[in-house]
Amino acid sequence: MSKFWSDKTSCLQPYVPGEQPKLTNLVKLNTNENPFPPSPMVLTAMRKAINDDLRLYPDPSADNLKQTIADYYGLHKQQVFVGNGSDEVLAQAFAAFFQGKQQLLLPDISYSFYPVYCQLYDVEACYVPLNEHFSLNPADYYGARAGVIFPNPNAPTGCILPLAQIELILQANPDCVVLVDEAYIDFGGESAVRLIDDYPNLLVVQTLSKSRSLAGMRIGLAMGHADLIEGLERVKNSFNSYPLDRVAQAAAIAAFTDDDYFHFTCAKVIKNRIWLTEQLQRMEFEVLPSEANFVFARHGSKEAAQIAAFLRQHGVVVRHFQQERISNFLRISVGTQEQQQRLIAVLEEMLAQ
Ligand SMILES: Cc1ncc(COP(=O)(O)O)c(C=O)c1O
Repeated sequence: MSKFWSDKTSCLQPYVPGEQPKLTNLVKLNTNENPFPPSPMVLTAMRKAINDDLRLYPDPSADNLKQTIADYYGLHKQQVFVGNGSDEVLAQAFAAFFQGKQQLLLPDISYSFYPVYCQLYDVEACYVPLNEHFSLNPADYYGARAGVIFPNPNAPTGCILPLAQIELILQANPDCVVLVDEAYIDFGGESAVRLIDDYPNLLVVQTLSKSRSLAGMRIGLAMGHADLIEGLERVKNSFNSYPLDRVAQAAAIAAFTDDDYFHFTCAKVIKNRIWLTEQLQRMEFEVLPSEANFVFARHGSKEAAQIAAFLRQHGVVVRHFQQERISNFLRISVGTQEQQQRLIAVLEEMLAQ
């Protein structure tokens, strides 16, 4: 608390990101990073971008990157927005479309940054309980007043909502924005991008942090009708004209260009997810069906907090949320096979006690 803080600042309850431990020998399965490195093409492009031109500002509208993404998804450049990580893109979407409005519908269990943005932008959040299988019922999201937001696949559950059901939500909310946060879509789901031309109220947000192994570069994007993108640009240009530096723009273009590497690493993550799920089930964990690069699991008899503490003592970090309905679950990021074997070995040691 400080007398210099505005009333707004005093009231904020900021988001707390998953731990980024300083110890390097830990098996880090707590923040859904990609266990595989970025494409070699990305690293080459970044090295090339480190030159005397860094004295110049980057392209404020990141036109080449937008064009690359537009070509990749079969969109127009005017339907693409980019920002400094998808968290920033989400914040700008809240400012552009939901700010000051009543009744934004969102699942009771979803990405914990959304309530923080609601507070920052004076949006009234209306939490809709997921059903007993932790999946989302489209009919609960009909007739929103401010808008609708949910991750697909959902986080931290990993469960996916099929496109046909997303269409029902879009059709039932023609007068407000339906934001589909596709941070994890590339690990088995089908993107809602192909619905953009049919639904002017659809905004799809994605990130290069997960499936393209670039969490450290902070690159996010949004795709939707050109009018929505223009709204985002208005907010962005009232805040920071240059959210993506020269190196980030070069990295992102290369990441979308090296499609083979992208598909290769996504397939490896999916294969490891299947292995991890089977191993956990063998040890009496219930694992929710995941289409993401993490699994959400609870043990038949051991408490999640205890398991997390034991894992941590043995050098393995996973995520535990002290939140109603899910406090007995652990969210475990998919790792390399070596990391996952270490996790399973520690769990076996714990269960043998
Ligand atoms: C559902 C969801 N959306 C958005 C993000 C933000 O990703 P980034 O800011 O790294 O692009 C995350 C990060 O974990 C997430 O889980």
